[in-house]
Amino acid sequence: MEGPKDPNPALEPYWGAIGQAVIAVNPVVTSVFLKASAVTGEFRTRDLTCIAGPDASETIHKENDCSFYLDLRKVFFSPRLVTERARVAHIPKLEDELVLDMFAGVGPFAIQRAKVQGVPVIAVDKNPVAVEYLQRNVQVNHVANLVTSICDDVAHLGQGNLSDIVHRASRIIMNLPERAFQFLPQAVQALRPNGGIIHFYQFTRESDPLETSSRKFIDALQTIKGELVRIDRVKIVKPYAPHEYLTVVDAFCRPSFSK
Ligand SMILES: C[S@@+](CC[C@H](N)C(=O)[O-])C[C@H]1O[C@@H](n2cnc3c(N)ncnc32)[C@H](O)[C@@H]1O
Repeated sequence: MEGPKDPNPALEPYWGAIGQAVIAVNPVVTSVFLKASAVTGEFRTRDLTCIAGPDASETIHKENDCSFYLDLRKVFFSPRLVTERARVAHIPKLEDELVLDMFAGVGPFAIQRAKVQGVPVIAVDKNPVAVEYLQRNVQVNHVANLVTSICDDVAHLGQGNLSDIVHRASRIIMNLPERAFQFLPQAVQALRPNGGIIHFYQFTRESDPLETSSRKFIDALQTIKGELVRIDRVKIVKPYAPHEYLTVVDAFCRPSFSK
């Protein structure tokens, strides 16, 4: 549950009763948590306060015919991306498609794309707990033959576990909106020589979120070894805060060998 933006001490004595009421009317709910911080840190996790039921934060989230085991305290997860994940899963596949999900978390984008399109996916995350859940979710959703999970920092693309991804991917999902620009060089390095699609997520506070998002993406690509072939789509995924939006740019790009 989300509390008021400005914490109100007068509400404190009532949270337990509010949590119990949620349990009473939702037969599948056993514990209720209050968000106790913003999403922070490299692994994009947040503090939670248990207000009713056992203080056990592992849960199962179901969306778009898939199930995801996850621990709300130890990994990132946003149920509000359900529509966006379904959109990405249903984009028609490219010939001989290989997907790289650079910031896979517990696997919601990777698993849904693999399941709907039957395409292979390499799913990377730096958070070892997220990758443990990712591996479990790959099994639970019957895509173990399609999804390869790797626990690593995508900054290491081209080395170690991530050495054989270079110039192989034809679709790249970049769902780390706070820092995606930092990893655009690795994304371009992973693209096939004849190019592929990057789904690039970012936050913007500008009054023209769509124009700003595509312009910033194009500008960033120009400073590295990347070439824009076309932009397929730019859209607002969700409002994030007052006057702040999460946007996605779907762009067909090629590595540039002349820069
Ligand atoms: C915003 S979450 C998205 C997770 C997932 N795509 C989803 O929709 O639930 C970003 C993820 O990137 C991971 N991450 C952050 N920095 C990373 C890095 N340098 N290399 C790989 N993963 C990273 C975090 O652990 C986190 O799980």
